[in-house]
Amino acid sequence: MWNFVEETARDVFRAYNFQEIRTPIFESTELFARGVGEETDIVAKEMYTWEDRSRKSPLTDAPHEAAADVLGGGQSLTLRPEATAGIVRAYIEHKLWDRGLNKLYCIGPMFRRERPQKGRYRQFYQIDAEIIGPASAGSDSPARDAELLEMLATLLDRLGIAGWNLELNSVGCPNDREAFNQALRKALEPVVGQMCADCQRRAVTNPLRVFDCKVPADQPIIEKLPRISQFLDEPCRRHFDEVQQILTKVGIPFSLNDRLVRGLDYYTRTAFEFTHGALGAQNAILGGGRYDGLSEALGGPPAPGIGFAIGEDRLVMSLPQSAESVLKKPDVYVAALGTGMNGEAARLARELRRENLVVDLGDEGFRLKKSFEAATRAGAKYILIVGENEVKADAFALKNLASGEQVSVPRGELAQKIRA
Ligand code: HAM
Repeated sequence: MWNFVEETARDVFRAYNFQEIRTPIFESTELFARGVGEETDIVAKEMYTWEDRSRKSPLTDAPHEAAADVLGGGQSLTLRPEATAGIVRAYIEHKLWDRGLNKLYCIGPMFRRERPQKGRYRQFYQIDAEIIGPASAGSDSPARDAELLEMLATLLDRLGIAGWNLELNSVGCPNDREAFNQALRKALEPVVGQMCADCQRRAVTNPLRVFDCKVPADQPIIEKLPRISQFLDEPCRRHFDEVQQILTKVGIPFSLNDRLVRGLDYYTRTAFEFTHGALGAQNAILGGGRYDGLSEALGGPPAPGIGFAIGEDRLVMSLPQSAESVLKKPDVYVAALGTGMNGEAARLARELRRENLVVDLGDEGFRLKKSFEAATRAGAKYILIVGENEVKADAFALKNLASGEQVSVPRGELAQKIRA
C-alpha cells in the first residue's frame, strides 16, 4: 500500500513537472530553529537534538586536532522534524534557481517527540512538495497556490480517497501580522490569566501561537479572539481572492477556516489543510502553505514559495478498502512434488517470472496438502504441480484454486494459459 501511494505520488508529481530532492535526515539545529520558529511547539518541545562529538578523538577521548578539523565537533544537530527548511537550505546552498529547479518533492521519515497515538508517531513519513523561485518566475503568483492545491486534489482522487475536506485561510504578510498581533495582545490581556501556562508564554512572545493550543478549557476563550482575516491588507486580500477564484473555476471544493494558522512560523498568505473524517482526532492528512520570507530568513535571496507535506502514515490509513486490489497476489504457486524436483520447479519458476508473472515457489519436501495450503495462503490464482511424471511429459498439472478446474498444459503454453 505504501508503494502504491508513493508510486502514484511520483506519477502525479511528474505530470506537474516536479523533480525529486533528497535532503539529509539530520541538519544543524539552527536551521530548524530559524526556519520553523523558536516559539513553535515543534522547536520548543518536539525536536530530537544532540550535541555532536566534541573536538576529541572518538577513540582515545584525547584532543585530536586533525580529527576535529575533519569531523567538526561540538555542533548542535537535529533529526529533521519537517522537510521544508532543509529543501530551502539546499535551494540556497546549491543555487537551484540557476538550474531551473523550482518544483521539488521529497519522500522520507521525519521525527517529532510527540505523545504517540493513532496517526501520530515519533518517526513518521512525509511526502513533501515545494514550489520555490524568484518572483520574476511567478513563484509568488496565486496561480501557483491553485496549481499546488489542484495537484493535491488530483493525487487524492487518484488514490481513491473520497470525503476529504480542503480548509483554506490566509495568514497575511508581516505587515498584517503586526496589526493582528497588537489586536491579539490587547484581546488576550484581560483573559490570559485564565489560560494554560503555554498560552501565557505565547501571549508575550508570539501571540499567534495561541491558536495552536489544544487545551479544551482554553478553547472558548480562543474562539472569541480576533481573526487574521480581519487584518489582511489589500494585496493579500486580492491574492487570496484569486486563489479561491481559480479553485472554483477548476472545480476544487474548499471551505474557509479563519482559525487555521498552522503550527510553523514561516507561513505567509495562503495556509491550508486537507482533513479526512475517518482518521479521528489526528484528522489532518496533510498541511501546507506559502512561505514568502523563508529564503531570506535562512540567508538566501528573495524566493517566494509554497508547499505541503502529506502525513503518509495517515494517508495510508485513509485509503479505501478497494485500494487493496493493488496488492499484487501471485499468479501462480509452483509446487515441487518429490525428491529431486526443486531444480525443475526453479527452472519453471524462472521461465514464468521472465514472462512477467508473479510466481511463488514451494519445496520438494512439502506434501501435496501442504503445497495447496501454502498456495491458498499466498492468495495465488493457480497452483502448478512439478512432479516426476510431469517433467517426463514436459506438461504440467495446472489447477485454478478458485474454480477447482485442473488441466495439463505443455511447458511452452503455460505463461499464456496462466495470463488468460
Ligand atoms: P505539518 O502540518 O507540521 O506541516 O505536517 C504535515 C503533515 O504531516 C500533517 O498534516 C500530518 O499528516 C503529518 N504529521 C505531522 N506530525 C505527525 C506525527 N507525529 N505523526 C504522523 N504524522 C504526522 C509541515 O511539516 C510543513 N513542512 C508542510 C509544508 C511544506 N508547508 C510548506 N511546505
